[in-house]
Amino acid sequence: MVFFSSKPAIPPEAKPVQQAPASALAPRRIRVLVLDPDPETVKLMNALMVKEPPVCAIFCSSAKDLTDRLGKEVDDVVLLDPKPLQAEGFTLLELLKSRYPAILRFVLSGEDGSDVTKRAVRLAHQFLPKPGDVNLLHRLVVEGIASMASIRSPKVVETLSRLEAVPSRKANFAEFIRLLYDENAPLEKICASLAKEPGMSARLLKISNSPIFGKAGSIETLEDAIGLLGINLVVSMAVAHKMFAVEVPSPVSRLEVEPLWAHCIRVSIIVRKVGNHLRLGKGIIRDAATAAILHDIGKLVLAYSLPEGYAAACSRAHADQMPVWQAEYAIFGNHHASVGGSLLKLWGLPQGVVQAVSMHHTPHCSGETTPGPATLLHIADAISYGSDTASAPCLLDGEHLRSVKLPEMLNYWLPLAPSE
Ligand SMILES: [Fe+2]
Ligand SMILES: [Fe+2]
Repeated sequence: MVFFSSKPAIPPEAKPVQQAPASALAPRRIRVLVLDPDPETVKLMNALMVKEPPVCAIFCSSAKDLTDRLGKEVDDVVLLDPKPLQAEGFTLLELLKSRYPAILRFVLSGEDGSDVTKRAVRLAHQFLPKPGDVNLLHRLVVEGIASMASIRSPKVVETLSRLEAVPSRKANFAEFIRLLYDENAPLEKICASLAKEPGMSARLLKISNSPIFGKAGSIETLEDAIGLLGINLVVSMAVAHKMFAVEVPSPVSRLEVEPLWAHCIRVSIIVRKVGNHLRLGKGIIRDAATAAILHDIGKLVLAYSLPEGYAAACSRAHADQMPVWQAEYAIFGNHHASVGGSLLKLWGLPQGVVQAVSMHHTPHCSGETTPGPATLLHIADAISYGSDTASAPCLLDGEHLRSVKLPEMLNYWLPLAPSE
């Protein structure tokens, strides 16, 4: 297959999700429905209401009061403490998840180990420890709304809202569990095994970046995630992950999980090779390598949302010899890179990782003026496709590569592809 370097036709959507000013994305006042009479929460919400962009907190007297308000105005967030509500709290969270997927579900709790808390974690987009940090809460609200607002298809919004995890690779998962139970297994070996299992990696990064562990949005590597959570918690999470295996997308979508993850792992290996070849900083390579493991996660979101639409995008890409992400954009109004970035943003992953995922096909939108994580991931992805002649074409963003003073011809990069 011959590859030409050219600037691909960039959809107008290809803007940095997280860089758009929140006020532009939410010109009206952000509405948060609050169900927690705790005086500390009232204080927290009063502090939130004077932030910029402004937030309007509506205090509800009961679960029924809150339910009665739903659908009457455009609500952005529901924030509640499930502990005093018990079963009523879960019913409410379930109702929001099924009937109002565009509303963000935030849980604020002083509990961290009870069954009530564990069940709430599964249903909430964000879980914050009491008494709550107003700056963190404001940032999570604004970024969460921006992520949802950037998605055009209601079906995709629904998937983003309900997706708690993504499927595993069966073959590697058994090896990962075995290593976890081996007391003599070094951490590097556990991490190397985990890196071959993107479903579990995504789950670990999501949980470790949750505000409840005190490091919201700052855990960038699998090593740091395991270090923060501790091996015992990782073991129980891995077992739970195995037990509650996430369903794969419908065969109608023609998206297969194994080749998808195999591609992501291969791109992560190439990222390190290219990063070392260019002598880039460790932080850049680290962010790009973590992003690489998850970079096409948005394909799963699209395939779950509209299986026929995803299959149509693949057929169109093949027939018209265009990159799949451009065909996705034409059909969904978003492509898998920005959708994946929105999911990881909702899951609280660090900015550097989210940006690289969001812009791996449109690195010119990243604002990188020297090679950064988005540029590195873009090149590695192109090398991976370029060395696989069966794949649809994936053109390098020549104009961007010129602007960061890197060769724009794929033939320059292809020798960095690892042999099979
Ligand atoms: Fe991609
Ligand atoms: Fe890819």
